[in-house]
Order: sequence, then C-alpha cells, then structure tokens
Amino acid sequence: MMKPFDTIKPTSSPTQVHLETFGCQMNEYDSELVRSLMKQEGFVFTDERERADVILMNTCAIRENAHNKVYKHLSELKKLKRQRPLVVGVLGCMAQNLKDELTDIQPLIDVLAGPDAYRQLPTLIRNAMHSQEEGLDQKGLAVDLSEYETYHDVIPDRTDGVNAWIAVMRGCDNFCSFCVVPYTRGRERSRDPEGIVEEAHRIAGQGFKQITLLGQNVNSYRSGDWDFARLITAVADVPGIERVRFTSPHPKDFPLPLLEAVVAHPRICKQIHLPVQSGSDRILSMMNRTYTIQEYRALVDRIRAMRSDIVLSTDVICGFSGETDEDFDATYRLVEDIRFHSAFIFKYSERKNTIAARKFSDDVSDQVKTERVTRLFDLQRNISYERNKEYLNMTIPILVEGDAKRSAAQGMGKSDGNITVIWDKEKIPSQPGNLLSLAIYDASSTTLYAGLPPSPESITPPSVGICI
Ligand code: SAH
Ligand code: SF4
Ligand code: F3S
Repeated sequence: MMKPFDTIKPTSSPTQVHLETFGCQMNEYDSELVRSLMKQEGFVFTDERERADVILMNTCAIRENAHNKVYKHLSELKKLKRQRPLVVGVLGCMAQNLKDELTDIQPLIDVLAGPDAYRQLPTLIRNAMHSQEEGLDQKGLAVDLSEYETYHDVIPDRTDGVNAWIAVMRGCDNFCSFCVVPYTRGRERSRDPEGIVEEAHRIAGQGFKQITLLGQNVNSYRSGDWDFARLITAVADVPGIERVRFTSPHPKDFPLPLLEAVVAHPRICKQIHLPVQSGSDRILSMMNRTYTIQEYRALVDRIRAMRSDIVLSTDVICGFSGETDEDFDATYRLVEDIRFHSAFIFKYSERKNTIAARKFSDDVSDQVKTERVTRLFDLQRNISYERNKEYLNMTIPILVEGDAKRSAAQGMGKSDGNITVIWDKEKIPSQPGNLLSLAIYDASSTTLYAGLPPSPESITPPSVGICI
C-alpha cells in the first residue's frame, strides 16, 4: 500500500562537490581518481561552484605563480563561505606546503590532503561537514607520503572522450635542485604492468582513441622484468587504441629499446618531450640534472638518425641561481641549433626547501629573467613557425579532439607529433575520436590549418628516414 504523501520523508540530497584542477597532467589524472573515490561514497559532482557544498582545489606548487593562482581562488571563496555552510579542501602538491605555512587563508581551509592521501578524502570531508554542523572547527589533515600508493585498483572517472591518462608511476627520486616535486609527491614507485594493460583494454572498450602514459620520469619505470619500453609496447598493442603518448622521459637515461619502440611501433606517436632545462654544463650540474650538453646533443642526434620526422619539444628554465650572460647564451645557442618543434620556457622560481634554495641564492633579477625568457621565447616562436611550415602541402593523419577554442565553426585535433590542427567544420564535418587525413595549407607558430586533401594521386608522402 502506498504511504500518504505527507508521511514520506524527503531523502537528504547527496553532497555536491565542485573540483578545480591546477597544474600538470598528473594532477588532471589525480582529479579523475578523486572523483572516482568520492562517487563510490555517494558524493556527486557539479560544475557550478555556487551550488556546491564542498569545494576542492587540486593544486600545483611548481612555481610561485602556481601558488598565487590558488591563493587568489581561495580568497574568492571567503565570501562564499560567509554566506552559507561550505567545506573547502585543498588537495595536491600545495597541500604539504600549506600545512606548514601560516597564512590568512588557513582558517578558510577545512581539509588538506596530499597526493597519496586521496583514499581518506571521503572520510575527511564527511568529518569536516559534521564538525561544521556541530559548530566546531576541526580540520582534516592527511599529508603523509607513501612509498607504495599507486591507486592501482581505482578506476579513474574520466571526462574527456578521446584521450585517457594513465599514471604508470608516481613520485620522483631525481631531486633536480630547483624542483619541489620529490617533496610534494614523495618517492618513486611503479604501478604493476598487468593492471595498466588491463586498464588500457577497458579504456579502448569505452571508445577512447589515445592513451597518454604519465610519470615524472617514465624511464625509471620498473616492475619485475618490465621496463617502460615493454610497457608502452604492450599498451600500444591494445586493439582500438590509435595513439599512445608518454611524458616525460629524463634525458639522463633514455634507453635504446624505448627509442626503438617509438620509432617502429605504428601506434606510438613520433613525438618526444625531452626537457633540457639549460644549455650550460655549469648550470646543469648545479641543477643536478646529471647529463652534459654533449650527452644531450648526442641523444638528440641518435633520435633523429633513427627517425628524421620525430617531433621534439623541451622545457627550459631561465635565470636559475648564478646564471650568467654566457650561460644564457649557451642555452640560446642550443635552442637555435637543435630547433625543437616547441618549448616551454619558464622563469626560475625558487621553491622553499629545495636543494637550490638551501645551497644557492636566487640572484638573477626578475628583470633579467624576464628579458631572457622573452628573447628565448621570440627565438623559439620563429623556429616553431619554420618547423610548422615544413608541413605545408603534406597530407597528415589528425585525431579529432573537438571544437577549436576560438570558434565552434572550426574543428580541432592533433597531429601525430601533437601539433594543434584546425579546419573548417562546414567543409570537413568531424566528430571527436575520428582519425582524419587532411592537407595542411597554412601554418602559424602554434597551429596548422588543414583542408580537404587533393586527389589521392597528387599526394606526395613525406620523405622520412627510418633506421633502427
Ligand atoms: N618531471 C618532469 C618535469 C615536471 S615539472 C621532467 O623532469 O621532465 C615541468 C617543468 O617545470 C620542468 O621541466 C621545469 O622546466 C619546470 N620547473 C620545475 N621547477 C621549476 C622552478 N622551480 N622554477 C621554474 N621552472 C620550474
Ligand atoms: Fe622535478 Fe627533476 Fe623529478 Fe622532473 S625529474 S619532477 S624536474 S625532480
Ligand atoms: Fe604537477 Fe605541479 Fe605537482 S607540475 S607534480 S601539480 S607541483
């Protein structure tokens, strides 16, 4: 028998969580883990900050401006928190630092959870909500780093439909002197290969076309007799996956079998991100990068000798402690000589407690850092433009990701080398996940412009040297 209407108790509505992610792909991936762990416990997610009972920020600590961004967002929440009950949680790489820092932002934060503590998050949030209801002000804190946590059994809650991230390892043992990651993410540990390959099969079954394998230094991947070359080959062999990428390998120990896999496997993208950081041996040694420029150049030469069309990108830091004009000139010349397809260029930002912060002084002025970044950026922009022009009149495969940022009338996708390509959707209708073959008719330093290819007979295949 049905109950009379007024005796049915309204079920309490589920807790709405809004999650914002800052930082690198690893953080994007971790946010997918967090969503999964919290959904299992009955939390629901909303895109609207205003409707949320809980606001979580997955944060980055790599440079000062990453910190500032988070502080700015947090201070915006002050107003919201005065208006209604709200639990604020800070996750990720900054959580560790916030624990130790006394700032006026602190009273606003109810939960702090570091990258290895996400399994505890549902409980921490529930406790914080309970504490707020009781009028108490108890904070939830879980910032211990683990030597084992790989979240191997957590199926990430993915939102993108084309690319799926998989973290194959966590943490970093390299201790580059400028870098905060070994402190915020702890010791290196590899996830078991069977679980990764199984996940790749599941991802393919869900219709994803690309997998990007993530690790702070994927070359350190080890699990029994599996190394990274074996792992990436196994993932690329999974039927249904069109493209496999990885980031980042460390130049100090790039193994030949990995290079052979990249060069020869049809579904491993011909693209390598190889952070150089500086062109000066003196600075590289102070940075504790453990390779010389001669070794780095030899690696680039070997890569290009094996496959001439490989797309190389890099990271550079300008204005590291003690960087002289001569050191910077060496970096400038290196970038000029190697002609990377693209480069991320950063101003050195001293991070508390790192080796560099303890041993050296941050003695390059902000003005000089900015001048060096600008000079290098201008150089690289011209090189990227010249590099992109090499694709003119070539017909290349493009994996469709969606609409272009600037206009929904344009489609956007990526070349095998990870260069952004756009086209007119009216002339070339496309769906995310499609693999198109399009002709490049124009190029800028960041983008290739594509149209329908000419008749098949007129297509000249690019001349590629492959040699293993
Ligand atoms: N694990 C990756 C790098 C992750 S951090 C690798 O080694 O390839 C991404 C980039 O941020 C680094 O390559 C470096 O160029 C830059 N970076 C790291 N710490 C920095 C700092 N303190 N100041 C400026 N840039 C930094
Ligand atoms: Fe940082 Fe170096 Fe580790 Fe990369 S390899 S995360 S730059 S310490
Ligand atoms: Fe990534 Fe930033 Fe942490 S770059 S590893 S989120 S410090």
